[in-house]
Amino acid sequence: MSKPSVYITRKLPEDLVESYREVLDIEMWDREEEPVERSHLLKKSRTADALLTMLSDKVDNELLDGADRLKMVANLAVGYDNIDVEAATDHGVQVTNTPDVLTDTTADLVFGLLMATARRLMEAEQFVKEGNWTNWSPLLLAGTDIHHKKIGIVGMGRIGQSIAKRAKGFDMDVLYHNRSRHREAEEQLGAVYTEFEDLLESADYVVCMAPLTEETNGMFRVEQFKKMKKEAIFINGSRGQLVDEKDLYDALVEGEIAGAGLDVFEEEPISADHLLLQLEQVVALPHIGSATKETRYKMMELCLENIKHYFEEGRVQTPVND
Ligand code: DGY
Repeated sequence: MSKPSVYITRKLPEDLVESYREVLDIEMWDREEEPVERSHLLKKSRTADALLTMLSDKVDNELLDGADRLKMVANLAVGYDNIDVEAATDHGVQVTNTPDVLTDTTADLVFGLLMATARRLMEAEQFVKEGNWTNWSPLLLAGTDIHHKKIGIVGMGRIGQSIAKRAKGFDMDVLYHNRSRHREAEEQLGAVYTEFEDLLESADYVVCMAPLTEETNGMFRVEQFKKMKKEAIFINGSRGQLVDEKDLYDALVEGEIAGAGLDVFEEEPISADHLLLQLEQVVALPHIGSATKETRYKMMELCLENIKHYFEEGRVQTPVND
């Protein structure tokens, strides 16, 4: 019997892929840092039994309609807003993602981003490296405290809870807002469920971790920034589309809020001349929430395991649709 054919939309390390070649007929896009061209992806989808996709690849009706053999899509991310899951289900395509393996790594990065923004770490580093450090002075690059402040986490999924744990270690008060109450986080971490508006008004750090859905698209706009404290710092570790970036820019310039730490943007990669990047109170990262070698290997492995098990046993470890 012939092996299921798998198309991987980015060049992944051969030492990882190698062992799967025994049971899967694997082909990869030949570049590690550049996304597959859309026309190439559409062509490959027509003959593939499975795709291993990145969050930058759109899996929509256009792709699915032409993908007669396609049975599964393994997405290398916990978020799957790049995939039209309803359309995939209609086409009988199993979708998987990579939860759990990236939880702590992403929480580390988001909390690090919060710290870097509050304590002005990027500005401080630039200051030293550019040779501007000529003197010690009492308020030189003075930031704002993190310990004993209030963090408001919007989206209390696995990563949100992991951020809450880190916040507890810094003696922070943890507020959260979520579609549903999270009793475990309340009991074990002392996280307090708070209505969205109340959270915006009282948190010193508003941390956006909700997934991108029709409901959450654009949930942070001018009105939400106006509700926040003038000293508040806004952190986004989820998806850029949850935020109106023009409104965020205005809020920062007009002093409605004090700073922003952003790992995600409406359009990625963000252009270097984007207005937000001109502000010193913005710390910007290139969507590296889960980017450690250990975790990225685990994510890639989970995708390949899902594909293998799907074809061998008809089951997957981390389904998005059932
Ligand atoms: C995810 O997995 O959805 C993250 O955004 C990737 O870092």
